[in-house]
Amino acid sequence: MKSALNARLLSAAELVRQDATFADIGTDHAYLPLFLLDEGRIGYAYCCDINGGPLNSARRNAEERGRAEQMTFILTDGAAALADKGITDYAICGMGGELIADIIDRAPHLKDGNVNLILQPMTRQEKLRSYLASSGFKIMSESYSFDAGKYYVCLLASFDGKCREISELEAIVGSDKSSCVDRDNRRAYLASKLKSLENALNGKREAGINCDEDSKLIAQIKEYISNI
Ligand SMILES: C[S@@+](CC[C@H](N)C(=O)[O-])C[C@H]1O[C@@H](n2cnc3c(N)ncnc32)[C@H](O)[C@@H]1O
Repeated sequence: MKSALNARLLSAAELVRQDATFADIGTDHAYLPLFLLDEGRIGYAYCCDINGGPLNSARRNAEERGRAEQMTFILTDGAAALADKGITDYAICGMGGELIADIIDRAPHLKDGNVNLILQPMTRQEKLRSYLASSGFKIMSESYSFDAGKYYVCLLASFDGKCREISELEAIVGSDKSSCVDRDNRRAYLASKLKSLENALNGKREAGINCDEDSKLIAQIKEYISNI
């Protein structure tokens, strides 16, 4: 039986290149590599996790599906331990944007134009975009998905060595230049992000904190969304 994947991880799977040498950082149940193996997109996967429990469940799932021989399970923090494996496509999904940025920052071998990073931040996407821009990573595409009542973004990035400073607005909404797969999901994703910024603004207002800058940013995001 082939493995099914939720829409969030499917949007990540679609960004993995055919015949990539693939690693999944923070693999948990190994759903993503198992799907890619079942689809014939990859022939082998490195499955990494910082915690033994998730890695054991990855191993168990792989054995149940008869895929264990096509997978290596590595108990490790981040991606630094994989420098000599010739991995071309790394997925780092289902974590906070700051943690993803930290994992990339601690693995200098990811600064290689031949390596693709498939990044699916659950929170603080703006921190991840700012980190990527200022560290010489280019976002090549963004895809948006809707899964179990929530919208998600997935970024495809690679190193080009050009360090850029991006505005707060661009860090939140992403770049117009990066190709975007689904406009409706993107608009809805940004609308939900806007709502949480507005809630935070109201909280600040009630606490008597000056919100002029936040109000300006929120107005810019609203205008941006209306033009998508
Ligand atoms: C919420 S799960 C996400 C699983 C899967 N990638 C997904 O998107 O559905 C996050 C996983 O990342 C692992 N993790 C957290 N920090 C990590 C790190 N620094 N290095 C490797 N794995 C990490 C956790 O143990 C957990 O299994």
